[in-house]
Amino acid sequence: MQNNKRPENMARIETKEQADAFIAEQVAAVKAQVGDKKVLLALSGGVDSSVVAALLIKAIGKNLVCVHVNHGLLRKGEPEQVVEVFRNQMNANLVYVDAVDRFLDKLAGVAEPEQKRKVIGAEFIRVFEEEARKQDGIEFLAQGTIYPDILESGPVKAHHNVGGLPDDLRFELVEPLKFLFKDEVRVVGKALGLPDGMVYRQPFPGPGLGVRCLGAITRDRLECVRESDAILREEFAKNGLAGKVWQYFTVVPDFKSVGVKENKRCFEYPVIIRAVNTKDAMTATVEDVPFALLQHITDRITKEVKGVNRVLYDLTPKPCGTIEWE
Ligand code: XMP
Repeated sequence: MQNNKRPENMARIETKEQADAFIAEQVAAVKAQVGDKKVLLALSGGVDSSVVAALLIKAIGKNLVCVHVNHGLLRKGEPEQVVEVFRNQMNANLVYVDAVDRFLDKLAGVAEPEQKRKVIGAEFIRVFEEEARKQDGIEFLAQGTIYPDILESGPVKAHHNVGGLPDDLRFELVEPLKFLFKDEVRVVGKALGLPDGMVYRQPFPGPGLGVRCLGAITRDRLECVRESDAILREEFAKNGLAGKVWQYFTVVPDFKSVGVKENKRCFEYPVIIRAVNTKDAMTATVEDVPFALLQHITDRITKEVKGVNRVLYDLTPKPCGTIEWE
């Protein structure tokens, strides 16, 4: 039975020195646990799996096999960043799986959010299992479990665990971050040399853009979500809001409305902007984004994103609106 309680005398990790000490301790612990055996990791590019990857690369180098599944629901530039940081900069043993068509085919016609989650989760296990079977000599599975996942506090649904693998692939777990809180994970990530864009990423739901492309996902609307989200993130970063606002993203519903572009009537999708602040995601308030910035973002989205003719700002706090639209 594994001990899942944070040791009472464990000091909080707040400084680079404390992070370095934690890293040295965990590198030794991982080496002692896995020896010269191979470890598999599902590397999404999120903060937790990225920090686990960087830590394990330090401990066991190429004996860590990272699998990055691109399911087509990631934000613009994310799969490329995973390849750049881990394969090119950290020299990791990285398997990049382009599973975009597989996921989108499975999701075709699926409109109900819980059903979408199930399809995405089940397909993820299938792809990961296939990749695991291609690897020889894997004996361990690394996971980016953090302490709040163990405590199960708050409604932020963690998708770190690759549960549901068949019995013959139930590897022994390596979970070096399991006693850390999120802010400590970020300090460790920084000390490991990960880029700020990865370490200070806003929360991103497991099913990715899939819950922001409302109704049955179509490729054209998914592109509207991805492109409008990229513009929003770029403008928030440029205007000092990226590190300040807890979560911000765009949503595309599955209906069109009439607009006018270049003196012609057009029938296109709206984009909804959401930007909220919260401590624990149980309640949330809406960020007071400067009106001029909202106008500028609207201008960019309607000009640069194909198939969009309106932009709306969601003013609803939680409750009664949830953070995601699903
Ligand atoms: P709601 O919409 O319930 O969201 O107010 C609260 C927080 O949870 C995130 N969220 C998810 N995270 N898998 C996740 O990993 C999910 O299916 C999921 N749904 C919502 C949401 O982004 C917000 O931070």
